[in-house]
Amino acid sequence: MAVREILKMGDERLLRVAQPVTAFNTPALHALRKDLDDTMQAANGAGLAAPQIGVDLQVVVFGSGEINPRYPDAPVVPYTVLINPVLTPLDDEEEEGWEGCLSVPSLRGVVPRYKRLRYQGFDLLGQPIDRTVEGFHARVVQHECDHLIGMLYPMRVRDFTRFGFTEVLFPGLDNAED
Ligand code: NI
Repeated sequence: MAVREILKMGDERLLRVAQPVTAFNTPALHALRKDLDDTMQAANGAGLAAPQIGVDLQVVVFGSGEINPRYPDAPVVPYTVLINPVLTPLDDEEEEGWEGCLSVPSLRGVVPRYKRLRYQGFDLLGQPIDRTVEGFHARVVQHECDHLIGMLYPMRVRDFTRFGFTEVLFPGLDNAED
């Protein structure tokens, strides 16, 4: 198990546009996936992107097979390793929702995201992924893939009256790990 340090907002490595993966099913790629998994699980995250552990590649992991204690009311999103993603909104409709980020600890904010989305990319073996999703699943994908273009969710917040510390906004919510 390799739990890596999660970079925090302010670190310039979070602002890079990540490089595409060019070789699939390699030991290095499998090792990266393992590190992302271990780090995400240790932090109770709903997703994690390679740039968050300082790796400049277009790789994200998200979802889980069980209810996440950080998002107890959120629907389950299938565990996915997504590489070299391309996101295509299906229409202009947006939906607001609260987000947090392991690179922005202790804070939450309301972020507008496209409600319906097609995402394409590849898995670890280089097999294509092509899904059309909506709601929380679409939100998670947009949040994680933003990390690959140097975007953190506070950059997407439009209404800063709904941005603040989790312990103040949601007293009683267990966010010790955030
Ligand atoms: Ni994040």
